[in-house]
Amino acid sequence: MRILVTGAAGFIGSAYVRHVLNEHPGDKVLGLDLLTYAGNLANLEEQRDDPRFRFVRGDIADAELIGELAPDLDAIVNFAAESHVDRSLLDPGAFARANVIGVMTLLEAARTHGLRMLQVSTDEVYGHVPAGQAAAEDYPLQPRSPYSAAKAGGELMCQAYGTSYGTDVVITRGANTIGPRQYPEKLIPLFVTNALLDLPLPVYGDGRQIRNWLHADDHAAAIDLVLREGASGQAYNVAADNERENLEVVHDILQRVGKPLSLIRHVEDRPGHDRRYGIDTTRIRTELGWSPRRDWHQTLYDTIDWYVANPGWWQAIRHRDPRFQEFYDRQYSHRLAGVGTATN
Ligand code: TYD
Repeated sequence: MRILVTGAAGFIGSAYVRHVLNEHPGDKVLGLDLLTYAGNLANLEEQRDDPRFRFVRGDIADAELIGELAPDLDAIVNFAAESHVDRSLLDPGAFARANVIGVMTLLEAARTHGLRMLQVSTDEVYGHVPAGQAAAEDYPLQPRSPYSAAKAGGELMCQAYGTSYGTDVVITRGANTIGPRQYPEKLIPLFVTNALLDLPLPVYGDGRQIRNWLHADDHAAAIDLVLREGASGQAYNVAADNERENLEVVHDILQRVGKPLSLIRHVEDRPGHDRRYGIDTTRIRTELGWSPRRDWHQTLYDTIDWYVANPGWWQAIRHRDPRFQEFYDRQYSHRLAGVGTATN
Protein backbone atom coordinates (compact mmCIF):
# COMPACT_ATOMS: atom_id res chain seq x y z
CA MET A 1 0.00 0.00 0.00
CA ARG A 2 1.18 3.55 -0.73
CA ILE A 3 -0.05 5.77 2.09
CA LEU A 4 0.02 9.53 2.50
CA VAL A 5 0.31 10.20 6.23
CA THR A 6 -0.52 13.81 6.98
CA GLY A 7 0.67 15.31 10.25
CA ALA A 8 3.47 12.74 10.01
CA ALA A 9 5.87 14.78 12.17
CA GLY A 10 3.34 15.10 14.98
CA PHE A 11 2.83 12.90 18.01
CA ILE A 12 0.36 10.22 16.86
CA GLY A 13 1.22 10.67 13.16
CA SER A 14 4.88 9.79 13.75
CA ALA A 15 3.87 6.79 15.90
CA TYR A 16 1.71 5.65 12.99
CA VAL A 17 4.55 6.04 10.45
CA ARG A 18 6.72 3.86 12.69
CA HIS A 19 3.94 1.30 13.02
CA VAL A 20 3.38 0.96 9.27
CA LEU A 21 7.07 0.69 8.40
CA ASN A 22 7.58 -1.95 11.12
CA GLU A 23 4.46 -4.00 10.44
CA HIS A 24 4.14 -3.80 6.65
CA PRO A 25 7.53 -4.22 4.95
CA GLY A 26 5.99 -3.86 1.47
CA ASP A 27 4.30 -0.52 2.16
CA LYS A 28 5.51 2.94 1.19
CA VAL A 29 4.81 5.99 3.31
CA LEU A 30 4.79 9.59 2.14
CA GLY A 31 4.83 11.86 5.18
CA LEU A 32 3.36 15.34 4.89
CA ASP A 33 3.58 17.99 7.59
CA LEU A 34 3.43 21.76 7.66
CA LEU A 35 5.85 21.77 10.62
CA THR A 36 3.96 24.39 12.58
CA TYR A 37 4.62 24.57 16.31
CA ALA A 38 3.83 20.92 17.14
CA GLY A 39 5.26 19.19 14.06
CA ASN A 40 8.83 18.17 14.80
CA LEU A 41 11.21 16.44 12.40
CA ALA A 42 13.04 14.97 15.40
CA ASN A 43 9.98 12.68 15.70
CA LEU A 44 10.91 11.05 12.36
CA GLU A 45 14.65 10.75 12.86
CA GLU A 46 14.68 6.92 12.84
CA GLN A 47 12.74 6.88 9.56
CA ARG A 48 14.87 9.43 7.72
CA ASP A 49 17.07 6.91 5.93
CA ASP A 50 14.38 4.29 5.27
CA PRO A 51 13.99 4.02 1.47
CA ARG A 52 10.27 3.27 1.94
CA PHE A 53 9.71 6.67 3.55
CA ARG A 54 9.70 10.12 1.99
CA PHE A 55 8.86 13.45 3.63
CA VAL A 56 7.29 16.56 2.10
CA ARG A 57 6.71 19.79 3.96
CA GLY A 58 3.31 21.24 3.13
CA ASP A 59 -0.24 22.10 4.06
CA ILE A 60 -3.24 19.75 3.77
CA ALA A 61 -5.29 22.77 2.64
CA ASP A 62 -2.95 23.31 -0.36
CA ALA A 63 -5.08 21.75 -3.11
CA GLU A 64 -2.37 22.05 -5.77
CA LEU A 65 0.21 20.19 -3.67
CA ILE A 66 -2.23 17.46 -2.63
CA GLY A 67 -3.33 17.08 -6.27
CA GLU A 68 0.32 16.53 -7.29
CA LEU A 69 0.91 13.87 -4.64
CA ALA A 70 -2.36 11.94 -5.06
CA PRO A 71 -1.77 9.99 -8.33
CA ASP A 72 0.95 7.87 -6.66
CA LEU A 73 -1.14 6.85 -3.64
CA ASP A 74 -3.62 4.22 -2.52
CA ALA A 75 -4.76 5.86 0.71
CA ILE A 76 -4.63 8.98 2.86
CA VAL A 77 -4.51 8.83 6.65
CA ASN A 78 -5.18 12.29 8.02
CA PHE A 79 -3.54 13.11 11.35
CA ALA A 80 -2.91 16.75 10.46
CA ALA A 81 -5.01 18.91 12.76
CA GLU A 82 -5.08 21.66 15.28
CA SER A 83 -5.67 19.55 18.37
CA HIS A 84 -5.44 21.51 21.62
CA VAL A 85 -8.70 22.64 23.24
CA ASP A 86 -7.05 25.54 25.09
CA ARG A 87 -5.59 26.93 21.85
CA SER A 88 -8.98 26.56 20.13
CA LEU A 89 -10.44 28.89 22.74
CA LEU A 90 -7.79 31.48 21.85
CA ASP A 91 -7.92 31.12 18.03
CA PRO A 92 -10.97 29.19 16.69
CA GLY A 93 -10.41 30.24 13.06
CA ALA A 94 -7.18 28.26 12.77
CA PHE A 95 -9.14 25.18 13.87
CA ALA A 96 -11.89 25.60 11.29
CA ARG A 97 -9.28 26.01 8.57
CA ALA A 98 -7.16 22.96 9.41
CA ASN A 99 -9.85 20.61 10.71
CA VAL A 100 -12.60 21.33 8.17
CA ILE A 101 -11.13 22.98 5.04
CA GLY A 102 -7.97 20.87 5.25
CA VAL A 103 -10.02 17.67 5.49
CA MET A 104 -12.12 18.73 2.50
CA THR A 105 -9.01 19.33 0.40
CA LEU A 106 -7.85 15.79 1.13
CA LEU A 107 -11.33 14.44 0.39
CA GLU A 108 -11.25 16.11 -3.03
CA ALA A 109 -8.02 14.27 -3.82
CA ALA A 110 -9.47 10.98 -2.52
CA ARG A 111 -12.56 11.48 -4.64
CA THR A 112 -10.68 12.44 -7.82
CA HIS A 113 -8.10 9.66 -7.60
CA GLY A 114 -10.18 6.87 -6.06
CA LEU A 115 -8.25 6.68 -2.78
CA ARG A 116 -9.37 5.38 0.61
CA MET A 117 -9.36 8.21 3.16
CA LEU A 118 -9.10 7.60 6.89
CA GLN A 119 -9.99 10.59 9.03
CA VAL A 120 -8.43 10.49 12.49
CA SER A 121 -11.05 12.05 14.73
CA THR A 122 -11.69 12.14 18.46
CA ASP A 123 -14.11 11.01 21.16
CA GLU A 124 -14.53 14.73 21.94
CA VAL A 125 -17.06 14.99 19.08
CA TYR A 126 -19.63 13.39 21.44
CA GLY A 127 -19.13 16.18 23.97
CA HIS A 128 -19.57 15.52 27.67
CA VAL A 129 -20.90 12.00 28.29
CA PRO A 130 -22.64 11.55 31.68
CA ALA A 131 -21.25 9.05 34.20
CA GLY A 132 -22.49 5.52 33.63
CA GLN A 133 -23.03 6.07 29.89
CA ALA A 134 -20.76 5.05 27.01
CA ALA A 135 -21.21 6.68 23.60
CA ALA A 136 -21.38 4.13 20.79
CA GLU A 137 -20.77 5.33 17.23
CA ASP A 138 -24.44 6.29 16.70
CA TYR A 139 -24.51 8.55 19.78
CA PRO A 140 -25.30 12.18 18.81
CA LEU A 141 -22.36 14.43 17.98
CA GLN A 142 -22.56 17.28 20.51
CA PRO A 143 -19.17 18.99 20.42
CA ARG A 144 -18.74 21.83 22.91
CA SER A 145 -15.37 23.46 22.15
CA PRO A 146 -14.18 25.10 18.92
CA TYR A 147 -11.70 22.23 18.64
CA SER A 148 -14.26 19.43 18.89
CA ALA A 149 -16.78 21.33 16.74
CA ALA A 150 -14.19 21.64 13.97
CA LYS A 151 -13.31 17.94 14.26
CA ALA A 152 -17.01 17.06 14.02
CA GLY A 153 -17.24 19.31 10.93
CA GLY A 154 -14.36 17.43 9.30
CA GLU A 155 -16.06 14.11 10.03
CA LEU A 156 -19.38 15.26 8.60
CA MET A 157 -17.59 16.35 5.44
CA CYS A 158 -16.15 12.81 5.17
CA GLN A 159 -19.62 11.30 5.54
CA ALA A 160 -20.95 13.72 2.93
CA TYR A 161 -18.26 12.71 0.42
CA GLY A 162 -19.07 9.06 1.06
CA THR A 163 -22.78 9.63 0.50
CA SER A 164 -22.66 12.17 -2.32
CA TYR A 165 -19.71 10.91 -4.37
CA GLY A 166 -19.15 7.35 -3.17
CA THR A 167 -15.71 8.30 -1.81
CA ASP A 168 -14.23 5.49 0.29
CA VAL A 169 -13.99 7.05 3.77
CA VAL A 170 -13.45 5.59 7.24
CA ILE A 171 -13.26 7.45 10.56
CA THR A 172 -11.65 6.69 13.91
CA ARG A 173 -12.69 8.44 17.13
CA GLY A 174 -9.81 8.00 19.54
CA ALA A 175 -9.68 8.66 23.26
CA ASN A 176 -7.09 10.92 24.96
CA THR A 177 -3.77 9.63 23.71
CA ILE A 178 -0.42 9.68 25.52
CA GLY A 179 3.06 8.36 24.88
CA PRO A 180 6.52 9.50 23.79
CA ARG A 181 6.90 12.71 21.73
CA GLN A 182 3.63 14.45 22.63
CA TYR A 183 3.94 18.23 22.51
CA PRO A 184 4.15 19.45 26.12
CA GLU A 185 0.94 21.48 26.06
CA LYS A 186 -1.34 18.52 26.80
CA LEU A 187 -1.95 17.40 30.38
CA ILE A 188 0.50 14.55 30.77
CA PRO A 189 3.63 15.79 28.97
CA LEU A 190 3.08 19.29 30.41
CA PHE A 191 2.77 18.00 33.95
CA VAL A 192 5.63 15.50 33.70
CA THR A 193 7.99 18.15 32.34
CA ASN A 194 6.77 20.79 34.82
CA ALA A 195 7.37 18.33 37.65
CA LEU A 196 10.88 17.57 36.37
CA LEU A 197 11.52 21.35 36.30
CA ASP A 198 10.02 21.78 39.83
CA LEU A 199 7.32 24.06 38.38
CA PRO A 200 3.71 24.10 39.63
CA LEU A 201 1.14 21.76 38.02
CA PRO A 202 -1.95 23.85 37.07
CA VAL A 203 -4.98 21.60 37.64
CA TYR A 204 -8.12 23.14 36.13
CA GLY A 205 -10.96 23.51 38.63
CA ASP A 206 -11.44 20.63 41.05
CA GLY A 207 -9.42 18.16 38.93
CA ARG A 208 -12.26 15.61 39.07
CA GLN A 209 -12.73 15.58 35.28
CA ILE A 210 -12.49 12.14 33.71
CA ARG A 211 -10.53 11.10 30.64
CA ASN A 212 -9.91 7.63 29.19
CA TRP A 213 -6.21 7.26 28.40
CA LEU A 214 -4.82 5.36 25.41
CA HIS A 215 -1.20 4.66 24.43
CA ALA A 216 -0.15 6.16 21.06
CA ASP A 217 1.15 2.80 19.80
CA ASP A 218 -2.17 1.09 20.62
CA HIS A 219 -3.97 3.97 18.94
CA ALA A 220 -1.73 3.67 15.85
CA ALA A 221 -2.42 -0.07 15.59
CA ALA A 222 -6.18 0.56 15.76
CA ILE A 223 -6.02 3.20 13.02
CA ASP A 224 -4.02 0.86 10.81
CA LEU A 225 -6.55 -1.93 11.28
CA VAL A 226 -9.43 0.37 10.37
CA LEU A 227 -7.52 1.58 7.29
CA ARG A 228 -7.06 -1.99 6.04
CA GLU A 229 -10.23 -3.70 7.26
CA GLY A 230 -12.77 -1.05 8.24
CA ALA A 231 -16.12 -0.92 6.43
CA SER A 232 -16.47 2.01 4.06
CA GLY A 233 -18.48 4.91 5.52
CA GLN A 234 -18.10 3.58 9.07
CA ALA A 235 -16.76 5.29 12.21
CA TYR A 236 -14.89 3.32 14.90
CA ASN A 237 -14.40 4.35 18.53
CA VAL A 238 -10.94 3.59 19.92
CA ALA A 239 -10.20 3.44 23.66
CA ALA A 240 -8.63 1.23 26.30
CA ASP A 241 -10.31 0.75 29.69
CA ASN A 242 -8.38 3.52 31.41
CA GLU A 243 -10.91 6.02 32.75
CA ARG A 244 -9.25 8.11 35.43
CA GLU A 245 -9.90 11.39 37.22
CA ASN A 246 -7.28 14.01 36.39
CA LEU A 247 -6.20 14.35 40.02
CA GLU A 248 -5.47 10.64 40.27
CA VAL A 249 -3.29 10.88 37.17
CA VAL A 250 -1.48 13.91 38.59
CA HIS A 251 -0.75 12.05 41.83
CA ASP A 252 0.59 9.08 39.86
CA ILE A 253 2.88 11.37 37.85
CA LEU A 254 4.33 13.03 40.95
CA GLN A 255 4.90 9.69 42.63
CA ARG A 256 6.61 8.22 39.56
CA VAL A 257 9.04 11.14 39.16
CA GLY A 258 9.58 11.49 42.93
CA LYS A 259 8.25 15.04 43.33
CA PRO A 260 6.02 16.41 46.13
CA LEU A 261 2.23 16.85 45.96
CA SER A 262 2.83 20.47 46.97
CA LEU A 263 3.54 21.21 43.28
CA ILE A 264 -0.21 20.88 42.59
CA ARG A 265 -2.13 24.13 42.08
CA HIS A 266 -5.89 24.26 41.52
CA VAL A 267 -6.36 27.10 39.02
CA GLU A 268 -9.19 28.80 37.13
CA ASP A 269 -11.07 26.23 35.06
CA ARG A 270 -11.14 25.98 31.26
CA PRO A 271 -14.38 27.59 29.96
CA GLY A 272 -16.92 24.96 28.84
CA HIS A 273 -14.68 22.20 30.22
CA ASP A 274 -16.10 18.76 29.35
CA ARG A 275 -16.31 16.74 32.58
CA ARG A 276 -16.07 13.32 31.06
CA TYR A 277 -15.53 11.49 27.79
CA GLY A 278 -16.78 7.91 27.69
CA ILE A 279 -17.04 5.70 24.62
CA ASP A 280 -18.19 2.21 23.80
CA THR A 281 -15.56 0.30 21.82
CA THR A 282 -17.55 -2.85 21.05
CA ARG A 283 -17.50 -2.25 17.29
CA ILE A 284 -13.72 -2.18 16.77
CA ARG A 285 -13.19 -5.02 19.24
CA THR A 286 -15.82 -7.41 17.88
CA GLU A 287 -15.86 -6.54 14.17
CA LEU A 288 -12.13 -5.98 13.67
CA GLY A 289 -10.64 -7.86 16.65
CA TRP A 290 -8.65 -4.89 18.02
CA SER A 291 -7.62 -4.64 21.65
CA PRO A 292 -4.96 -2.51 23.34
CA ARG A 293 -1.69 -4.25 24.16
CA ARG A 294 -0.89 -2.14 27.23
CA ASP A 295 -2.70 -1.85 30.54
CA TRP A 296 -3.07 1.45 32.41
CA HIS A 297 0.21 1.39 34.28
CA GLN A 298 2.22 0.36 31.23
CA THR A 299 0.54 3.17 29.31
CA LEU A 300 1.27 5.80 31.94
CA TYR A 301 4.72 4.67 33.04
CA ASP A 302 6.00 4.08 29.49
CA THR A 303 4.97 7.67 28.79
CA ILE A 304 6.43 9.27 31.93
CA ASP A 305 9.66 7.30 31.71
CA TRP A 306 10.22 8.39 28.11
CA TYR A 307 10.21 12.08 29.09
CA VAL A 308 12.52 11.33 32.01
CA ALA A 309 14.92 9.49 29.67
CA ASN A 310 14.74 12.01 26.80
CA PRO A 311 15.18 15.48 28.29
CA GLY A 312 16.87 16.73 25.09
CA TRP A 313 13.63 16.24 23.13
CA TRP A 314 11.40 18.34 25.37
CA GLN A 315 14.01 20.83 26.55
CA ALA A 316 14.51 21.89 22.91
CA ILE A 317 10.83 22.89 22.90
CA ARG A 318 10.49 24.25 26.40
CA HIS A 319 13.77 26.16 26.62
CA ARG A 320 14.61 27.04 23.02
CA ASP A 321 11.32 27.54 21.15
CA PRO A 322 9.90 30.98 21.97
CA ARG A 323 6.48 29.86 20.68
CA PHE A 324 6.18 27.48 23.64
CA GLN A 325 6.95 30.17 26.20
CA GLU A 326 4.58 32.60 24.53
CA PHE A 327 1.70 30.10 24.76
CA TYR A 328 2.60 29.06 28.31
CA ASP A 329 2.64 32.65 29.55
CA ARG A 330 -0.65 33.43 27.82
CA GLN A 331 -2.33 30.34 29.19
CA TYR A 332 -0.92 30.08 32.71
CA SER A 333 0.60 33.34 34.00
CA HIS A 334 -2.68 34.80 35.20
CA ARG A 335 -3.92 31.41 36.39
CA LEU A 336 -0.87 30.76 38.53
CA ALA A 337 -0.44 34.30 39.83
CA GLY A 338 -1.24 34.36 43.52
CA VAL A 339 -2.57 30.77 43.67
CA GLY A 340 -1.36 28.98 46.79
CA THR A 341 -0.26 25.42 47.37
CA ALA A 342 -2.89 22.71 47.57
CA THR A 343 -2.06 19.19 48.65
CA ASN A 344 -5.42 17.44 48.27
P1 TYD B 1 -5.79 17.84 27.55
O1 TYD B 1 -4.55 17.02 27.61
O2 TYD B 1 -5.70 19.26 27.10
O3 TYD B 1 -6.84 17.02 26.67
P2 TYD B 1 -8.43 17.28 26.39
O4 TYD B 1 -8.82 18.58 26.99
O5 TYD B 1 -8.47 17.30 24.91
O6 TYD B 1 -9.12 16.12 27.02
O7 TYD B 1 -6.48 17.85 28.99
C1 TYD B 1 -6.79 16.64 29.65
C2 TYD B 1 -7.50 16.98 30.93
O8 TYD B 1 -6.58 17.68 31.78
C3 TYD B 1 -8.67 17.91 30.74
O9 TYD B 1 -9.69 17.58 31.68
C4 TYD B 1 -8.11 19.30 31.05
C5 TYD B 1 -7.07 18.98 32.12
N1 TYD B 1 -5.93 19.92 32.16
C6 TYD B 1 -5.60 20.58 33.36
O10 TYD B 1 -6.25 20.39 34.41
N2 TYD B 1 -4.55 21.45 33.35
C7 TYD B 1 -3.82 21.69 32.23
O11 TYD B 1 -2.89 22.52 32.29
C8 TYD B 1 -4.14 20.99 31.02
C9 TYD B 1 -3.35 21.22 29.76
C10 TYD B 1 -5.21 20.11 31.03
